[in-house]
Amino acid sequence: MQLSLPTILSSWAVLATLCASQTVVPDHGTTTEPSDGAIIPHGDSFPFSYEPVPFGTQVCFSAYDPVAIYLSTAPPTAADVTSSQNACVLTDSSSVHDFGHYVVPLISNLPPVGPGFPPFQFQMPTLGVANGTTLYLTVLETITNCKAGGFFCGIETTTVVYFD
Ligand SMILES: *[C@@H]1O[C@H](CO)[C@@H](O)[C@H](O)[C@H]1NC(C)=O
Repeated sequence: MQLSLPTILSSWAVLATLCASQTVVPDHGTTTEPSDGAIIPHGDSFPFSYEPVPFGTQVCFSAYDPVAIYLSTAPPTAADVTSSQNACVLTDSSSVHDFGHYVVPLISNLPPVGPGFPPFQFQMPTLGVANGTTLYLTVLETITNCKAGGFFCGIETTTVVYFD
């Protein structure tokens, strides 16, 4: 049988989808700022600092890992994670704000690359949520260059309280 081009393309699409599938692991980094439960009025800046996951149980050797940072009204779980361009991202309905995509260094003294490191501060956006709502600040880390191949997603969530 001769494979038609559409057949080859659709097989490739299936393979590409399989290869891009993301696995959420229990490993995750630590958000050191803001502190858990910090009260943040909208429009105010708040400090941000994140320690990436140490090489982890997956045995990974990357120098940098991509991170995506979000605010959600419920703590994200594995079901809320998908992938885009070989990076872990939250599905659109799983967050109320996207602070953007960055890289974090796993080795000290590395210079910023690609989208750069996360800023030291973010600004709390104005959201349509009630005064005093607990929000979940999530750092979704794409754990790369792993012995098993592919990549893994680590979910780190800390809470902040939205003030009007
Ligand atoms: C939000 O709640 C805080 C604490 O209860 C209160 O001090 C503040 O005035 C409230 N803001 C508005 C806009 O109601």
